[in-house]
Amino acid sequence: MSLEVDVLKPAIGAKVRLDRSAIGDSAVSQELLMLLERHTVLVFPRIGLTDPQQLALTDALGERVNIAARVPGRGGADAVYQVTLNKGAKIEPEYVLGTFFWHMDGLTVDVPPPKATVLSARRLAPKGGQTEFASTKAAYAALPPEEKRELEGVRVYHTVTASVREFCPPEGLDDARRAMGREHPLVWTRRDGTKSLIIGSTADRVIGMSQAEGRALLSRLLEWTAQPAFTYRHCWEEGDCVIWDNTSALHRVIPYAADSGRMMHRTALAGVESAA
Ligand SMILES: [Fe+2]
Repeated sequence: MSLEVDVLKPAIGAKVRLDRSAIGDSAVSQELLMLLERHTVLVFPRIGLTDPQQLALTDALGERVNIAARVPGRGGADAVYQVTLNKGAKIEPEYVLGTFFWHMDGLTVDVPPPKATVLSARRLAPKGGQTEFASTKAAYAALPPEEKRELEGVRVYHTVTASVREFCPPEGLDDARRAMGREHPLVWTRRDGTKSLIIGSTADRVIGMSQAEGRALLSRLLEWTAQPAFTYRHCWEEGDCVIWDNTSALHRVIPYAADSGRMMHRTALAGVESAA
């Protein structure tokens, strides 16, 4: 089995032609996982998945994790999470507005960060709403060797309060979210030895560094990662699905209006802790 693949950029992104009827085929799943590892972001143009099909695709690739349900008190969250600012939806505006800033999913919950996120475009915003991705794997690989050595063993504390600091004071969060935080290595190591940076808006402080030194390091790495060679901007069409390697890439959405109707459906694959 060989899928039709168009590479979007050398460092990040590939477009994959997948027939919905091939979802669940084990050879196809293996190939998709290999492509995800190689290209970090996989785009399935206008595949038009229903929720059951999106769940089936997610389950075919590995164990599923519901990160929305890991927020204390939200154990009953739906299996498919709706990312939207629509009034009347079960929205958490501070969480959705946080997606306007570079981040990785699930860094502050009590399970390993998801291996991958699966996102389907159900309804687009007339303006804005494109999603940008930046490969922290390519960014790490391109660092000079002495900088890589300096980052070894460095650990970072990630919080929800940090992720909303641009627009919401800590008091604006509910108690459960205000208390959420988790420590991760700055350099993520996979079983195959490949490495990436774990950074983004949730990064609150670098353990053992002064606030100024830590934040300067984090913002320098963020700027380095966001350079054009390592980034891909996806301009959604209705029905598109994108799967990305969550610990190898940052993502953010170009701001869209609260009344735009934009609706994305999200599922995620469970991850494992860094090997080092
Ligand atoms: Fe996200």
